[in-house]
Amino acid sequence: MDDKHIQILKDLGFGDISSKTMSNEYWKNRAAEALAITTQERDVFGCLDHTRGDGVRIYDIEGTEYLDVTGGVAVRAFGLRYKPFLDFEASISDVVSELPGMDFDAIPQTLLAERVAKITPGTFKKRVVFTTSGARAVEGCMKSAMDLSSRRRFVAFRPAFHGRTGYALALTASNAMHKSGFPQGVDVIRVPYPYCYRCPYGQEVESCNLECVEGLVYALQVEGNDIVMTVMEPICGEGGLIVPPAKAVKGMYDVTKEVGAYFMSDEVQAGMGRTGKWCAIENHGVVPDFVSIAKALGGGYPMGASIGPAPMFTGPSRHSETFSAEPKLSLLALWIIKHMEDGGFLKKNAENGAYLMKRLNELKDKYEVVGDVRGIGLMVGVEFVKSKKTKEKARDLRYRIVKNAVQKQKLWMIGAGQNCVRFTPSYIITKANIDDAVDRFDKAIAQSLS
Ligand SMILES: Cc1ncc(COP(=O)(O)O)c(C=O)c1O
Repeated sequence: MDDKHIQILKDLGFGDISSKTMSNEYWKNRAAEALAITTQERDVFGCLDHTRGDGVRIYDIEGTEYLDVTGGVAVRAFGLRYKPFLDFEASISDVVSELPGMDFDAIPQTLLAERVAKITPGTFKKRVVFTTSGARAVEGCMKSAMDLSSRRRFVAFRPAFHGRTGYALALTASNAMHKSGFPQGVDVIRVPYPYCYRCPYGQEVESCNLECVEGLVYALQVEGNDIVMTVMEPICGEGGLIVPPAKAVKGMYDVTKEVGAYFMSDEVQAGMGRTGKWCAIENHGVVPDFVSIAKALGGGYPMGASIGPAPMFTGPSRHSETFSAEPKLSLLALWIIKHMEDGGFLKKNAENGAYLMKRLNELKDKYEVVGDVRGIGLMVGVEFVKSKKTKEKARDLRYRIVKNAVQKQKLWMIGAGQNCVRFTPSYIITKANIDDAVDRFDKAIAQSLS
């Protein structure tokens, strides 16, 4: 961090801060004393320098440069300090920042709602509610579905991640740490996610009879089919980067429709063009009633949206969030959508994603411990096993690989599920960056095994 930014902190009342305190250990210790939570392990990651970054390069406060393949966990659509984005942001610096989006009308949020409705599947009449997080984008859909129906029970999957607040947490089931001890906000019928590498029904995807869909039929028979909505991630992200086969997603959709319920695609991580389609569910040929988006929609700022069938809510004030769709953030989101269209990013994401998969599959051929490589577009996961034959989960190895990747190879990456890692890079990643990332990842695996 340069002197200017150190001085800014001093001017904010922190006279104890100087270039001498710019060490990862110092700030990690200080953070641990002040912050209640960090979701990623402090023994793996350094303290990020909030004043530096460029594209897919991020820095810790000791000045170490990393190649980032997390994209801020799918948030930074165009990476860090993307010049066209910064230029547009500067051009709207005189726009007012705080106009409560759900209390009064303003032009940017109306236009954004129109755009967002257009980029989500289905030509039916939609409405949009803006939010400041992914979990709330999920909850906006859940509340709307309950408001439009007299039913209250949901179908969700295991694993699944839909956020850590209230109703969204009730749908989440990817890590006991998120759930244990907290009461269930809504009633959930839980069925296994279509996870073909570890099919809970012992089937092979090519020859199966969609036993997972039959599992949902059976669950509704024995638990009751008075469900309001099935909520599904089109690619299970946090739970282990699992790509379901289209036929299973279609099957879950059909069963949901047969019992007169809504179907929702939680696109918070996989949406916004990451997979080469605006919504990842389009890869499965299903048109959901509800869609939640967030993360890349704000390009780094908190912006989410719940999209559902009109009228969404039975009356005014049935739902609200003060800090939603502020004018500046709405304009930025509009710019992101337009820039993605003008720059052909959907196509680029599909192509670069295919290249990333190809390169990672080389590692699958090379290492016995790389059990599976799966993904669509720029959402790709690698699952580690003790051996390809037994498929026993290699949890410790995964931890060592991520640690080695970050600390030794300077590859900023995170895990998913119990024994997987995920690649959700920014859309500006190049083939050269991908080669570099895979080479570093290769070294991390090799060194973690020896
Ligand atoms: C599919 C999905 N839904 C919801 C969420 C929750 O988003 P947020 O952390 O912004 O509340 C996430 C976050 O990773 C997610 O991946």
